[in-house]
Amino acid sequence: MRRPAALVLAFTVVAVACTSGGLDDSADTTATTAATTTEAPTTTAPSTTSEAEPTTTEAAAPEVSAELSGVGDELFPLLGNSGYDVAAYEIDLDLTGDELMATTVVSLTATQDLDRFHLDLVGMTVDGVAIDGEAVTFDRDERELIITPNAPLTEGDAVAVTVSYRGTPEPVADDAGPFALGWQTREWGTFVASEPSGAASWFPGNDHPTDKATFRISVTVPEGVAAVAPGLLEGIEERGDGAVTYRWVSDRQMATYLASVATGPFTITDDAGPDGVVIRHAVVTARADDLLADLDSTVPILEWMVDRFGAYPFESYGVVTVPDDLAFALENQTLSLFGADFIDFGDDFADQIEAHELAHHWFGNLVSPARWQDIWLNEGWATWAEYAWAADQGFADWDELAAEAPFFGDMGPLLEVTPTTLFDAKVYIRGGLGIEALRRTVGDEAFDAVIDTWLTRFADSAATTDDFLAVVDEITGDEGGSVMRAWIFDDEMPAFPAEG
Ligand code: ARG
Ligand code: ZN
Repeated sequence: MRRPAALVLAFTVVAVACTSGGLDDSADTTATTAATTTEAPTTTAPSTTSEAEPTTTEAAAPEVSAELSGVGDELFPLLGNSGYDVAAYEIDLDLTGDELMATTVVSLTATQDLDRFHLDLVGMTVDGVAIDGEAVTFDRDERELIITPNAPLTEGDAVAVTVSYRGTPEPVADDAGPFALGWQTREWGTFVASEPSGAASWFPGNDHPTDKATFRISVTVPEGVAAVAPGLLEGIEERGDGAVTYRWVSDRQMATYLASVATGPFTITDDAGPDGVVIRHAVVTARADDLLADLDSTVPILEWMVDRFGAYPFESYGVVTVPDDLAFALENQTLSLFGADFIDFGDDFADQIEAHELAHHWFGNLVSPARWQDIWLNEGWATWAEYAWAADQGFADWDELAAEAPFFGDMGPLLEVTPTTLFDAKVYIRGGLGIEALRRTVGDEAFDAVIDTWLTRFADSAATTDDFLAVVDEITGDEGGSVMRAWIFDDEMPAFPAEG
């Protein structure tokens, strides 16, 4: 029996099919153009008074500042903001009414003197912003929520910024696929798929993987609906009218794009896994038995990965299965998102995707890309882990993947990506093969030392391709360094080395 050649196929084919469909006039296309200049994105005109929020005070509308909006990500110049560092998000969501009512408290520290600063927020109506409990002036311009403190912040000041907002979240157009990103509302419930730019659809923040933080997410849902979010369930409280609040806490560092919530007809499990990791799945209740049987593989895969990569980095792990077909799976932190299509792919292949998403918890979630251009570090490593695991189980073969690679389309240099090609096949396949080529060249001992150094040095933080090459050079010298460079930068994909 022939199985689909790679998990990436399912995703990539859909993505390719729709690139011609023209998401061309979405916001990120503009962003790409801006990125060709060396400067930070050009300042757009300050919001005109007619656009200003009714609650904004009379004070002159603060301008969108080129230095403060964006962290300098070439592919996504508007993602994230400069001038501060977020330590924690406390997100309270109430889904019991017609619209989402929300409060997010962002605890941040100024890294420079600031007479104003930005948070990323798309759509929603902002009812008020307060700093340490005092109402302040704010303005909005596209994805920028511009906040003017009553007195300028001084470098080192730590403040709590409370944003009260409501509405129906508007998903953000995804340049790389036919999906909307961020908070999604369906008949059966809601889920979140943000990578790379959708987080601002449901909470205000510093939406870039270079600024990780802890998250406490509380979700109030009507009777009979369950709510799941990253980390550990701290408690469930009943409100009296039947509504229930689920309080989820993640004290580990998390990038904004990996934060998620799902609400719906779910059964939430809670089991002791290896090394104290809580295994918590959220499966559609009507199919609970068959879905939980599929997810039997979670613990053995986790054990394989712990063996190879070291301790699992977070407090819990599990999968949320939603009833819709999604055409992708996603490594939301501690709570990988699976659509019905991917979980039902057949045992081996579904397990291979499970291995892929779980591997991202080390490669992508623990160590995140410092620029979206470095996405191959996420997808190449997750593909490597997925294939290495599947090859160990006897149902995948590296040489077969190498032989098939050209049929997946462009296998050009790995850093040549744009917002529309961020998840193209080469990022996965050339990336994964390049990492296996490194292993075959330097041997398992040096290869494992590369993994160990990479994960230890950049844990809870973000790193670039150059950071990775520095680790490879340090441990393997020119032998590994030249192979890895060829796989990343050469115009043609190098020949795949035979097992040494
Ligand atoms: N990181 C996901 C995976 O490899 C793919 C995400 C697709 N994202 C998107 N924006 N279309 O499994
Ligand atoms: Zn992936």
